[in-house]
Amino acid sequence: MKQTLKVNCEKEYLIEISDNSFEKLNQEINEATKGQKRLIVISKKVYKLYYTRLNFSEDEIFVLNDGEKEKNYKNYLKIIERAKQIGLTRKDVMIAIGGGVAGDITGFAASTYMRGIEFIQVPTTLLSAVDSSVGGKTAIDLADAKNVIGTFYQPKAVFINTNFLATLDKKQFMSGLGEVLKYAFIEESCGHTNPLYLFEFLTLGCEKIMQKEPLTMIRMIEYCLSLKIAVVNQDEKEGGLRKVLNFGHTLGHALETITKYNKFTHGEAVAYGMYFIIKWAYNHEYIGYAYYRLSMELLEKYGFKPLKKKFQKEKLIELMMKDKKASEGKITFIIPCDKKKVREIKLTPIEAGYMFDE
Ligand code: GLY
Repeated sequence: MKQTLKVNCEKEYLIEISDNSFEKLNQEINEATKGQKRLIVISKKVYKLYYTRLNFSEDEIFVLNDGEKEKNYKNYLKIIERAKQIGLTRKDVMIAIGGGVAGDITGFAASTYMRGIEFIQVPTTLLSAVDSSVGGKTAIDLADAKNVIGTFYQPKAVFINTNFLATLDKKQFMSGLGEVLKYAFIEESCGHTNPLYLFEFLTLGCEKIMQKEPLTMIRMIEYCLSLKIAVVNQDEKEGGLRKVLNFGHTLGHALETITKYNKFTHGEAVAYGMYFIIKWAYNHEYIGYAYYRLSMELLEKYGFKPLKKKFQKEKLIELMMKDKKASEGKITFIIPCDKKKVREIKLTPIEAGYMFDE
């Protein structure tokens, strides 16, 4: 099965979601890069598991170690140097095969190499399939600040092949599901033309999703990306609407940073952030009891739980103030304000501190 979606922002491109064979994936990548030299940046894990089936030449491969720590300027420079060494010109292309780390750093390298060359995303994790591979955010990190160096630079195409998900471990799969659930809470704020009923799809389809049933995976990724595309088409550079995609992320990012990216996966941290803000929204009467309960049940159905461990609230606030989305001395939260609708609020550090006392 194959689904195709189209992004229509400043640059148009296609996203293919399929369970095609790897042979077919090779063919499609070859067609999309016909006549071009290529630098293929591939995550080490994916290289080990799939190299023989992906059938690329060693000469065009750059193997990137896994983990957020690898999304740094040293690896960025190594990618650029490799591109130069194999003679990539302005007409050529970079391809990222892996999770968000490979996608973000390759996108950034492609956007800056010779002032920008084409790049293709082949996300191999659920998290990168439903989020970072689409929408054109590219980045590298500094030691204490994630994604502070980056560009908005859309790929030429995105090939999502659900066969890669078979070898994704439970923790990484759950991380992707954290982002998937986020879309259920923001559906009606995305400006998508027709209802997808993602909340209901996820509630009813939990069993098949947890079994990674191929057609259900394709449908689920298609729904999530349809919502993301609707947002990106209206607000590519995050002037306003795109902030809805940050639901659960304000606390989520702070939890990732305070634990040095060692304790929680991204999606898990976002799930804690969603629990936190949904409870707060209910306590402050932004949402009623029925939706509050349904929301809790959806998160629990997928095995997510509210955060038990206590972190020093002053440190969390400090980190949230350093977030890219904080402005004018205030912290931005995306809060649920109705069923499947969210909106942005800004709180001073003192006001945000009270949230942790409830
Ligand atoms: N990951 C959120 C965005 O792409 O805007």
